[in-house]
Amino acid sequence: MNVLVTGGAGFIGSHVVEHYLNHGHEVFVIDNLSTGNRENIPFVKAENFFEEDICDLDLVGNIIKEYQFDLIIHLAAVVSVVDTINNPVDSNEVNITATLNLLESNRLYNNNIKRIIFASSAAVYGNNTQLPNSIMKLVNPISPYAIQKYAGEQYVKQYSNLYDIPTTALRFFNVYGPRQDPKSAYSGVLSIMQSSYLDEKPFTFFGDGTQTRDFVYVKDVVQAISLVADSDNAIGHVFNVGTGKPSSLMEVFEFLGNVLEKDISTNFVNEREGDIKHSYADIQELSNLGYFPKYSIEEGLYSYINESTKKEIGV
Ligand SMILES: NC(=O)c1ccc[n+]([C@@H]2O[C@H](COP(=O)([O-])OP(=O)(O)OC[C@H]3O[C@@H](n4cnc5c(N)ncnc54)[C@H](O)[C@@H]3O)[C@@H](O)[C@H]2O)c1
Repeated sequence: MNVLVTGGAGFIGSHVVEHYLNHGHEVFVIDNLSTGNRENIPFVKAENFFEEDICDLDLVGNIIKEYQFDLIIHLAAVVSVVDTINNPVDSNEVNITATLNLLESNRLYNNNIKRIIFASSAAVYGNNTQLPNSIMKLVNPISPYAIQKYAGEQYVKQYSNLYDIPTTALRFFNVYGPRQDPKSAYSGVLSIMQSSYLDEKPFTFFGDGTQTRDFVYVKDVVQAISLVADSDNAIGHVFNVGTGKPSSLMEVFEFLGNVLEKDISTNFVNEREGDIKHSYADIQELSNLGYFPKYSIEEGLYSYINESTKKEIGV
């Protein structure tokens, strides 16, 4: 298959690209390297890598016309909530307009496509206190990022209903794993914890550390993508991608210390305004398609730390 991964040089994208290459597919990437890194995907041939902005609508249309992709995994986005608050109009171009353009280009020039998969986010649930977060329950998008992800997924869904373009949207919870950028804000809390341990600097909790998240290992996210890509029952639907289990930040911090065999001090400052207290995914719909998260938080952390250590010592 010809597979296009937008945002393929980013954290999640690099794992998706690796997966499809390992399964013998021809993989192409569009990425402007705003938060991604070409070194994340050394295995992608130069002629398959387009260092371009997905907001260049004509260019994206031309690439789609030329390559007639079978599968598109659309991950490129302004991923920082804070950036979308500071730049709501510009981020809207990337997160909504470019998504709509991608859909429309396929409708016009590539309507034999087998699937378009869109990366949405658990952020669409906002401060919804009814747990677990279920796709059957109300959303409450409270940032431009969450509004943009919700709009994107609804466009994606309706392109399936209105124009028969086979699409699926996935609401990722807190994804972690190798190649995650430690500078990224909240979703990167695990990589920030790891940096603190490795630099032996104190870690600062916003609040008391009892807030919970559904931390899902990036390989399980790849499993979910590949599963929905192959399932006709996923067409026109939205799915949560998590583990279905909450972990508190304090638990994760302590466990990471055990894995790394290190002990650092902690600071506690006020909770950040607007931060969500508890979140975890109802994964029933995805489980019905055969999804089973292979990594508990403990297993995922071991694998993450092993991979990072291998990279540091150049294995
Ligand atoms: N990491 C998480 O926990 C998480 C949670 C929910 C949703 N998501 C979504 O998953 C997707 C991937 O996120 P990630 O964590 O891998 O982030 P990332 O920043 O590592 O990856 C995003 C990639 O998109 C590229 N990009 C950004 N703007 C672009 C543009 N205008 N044109 C071309 N390329 C552009 C970046 O350079 C980067 O390589 C995003 O859509 C994000 O919103 C991630």
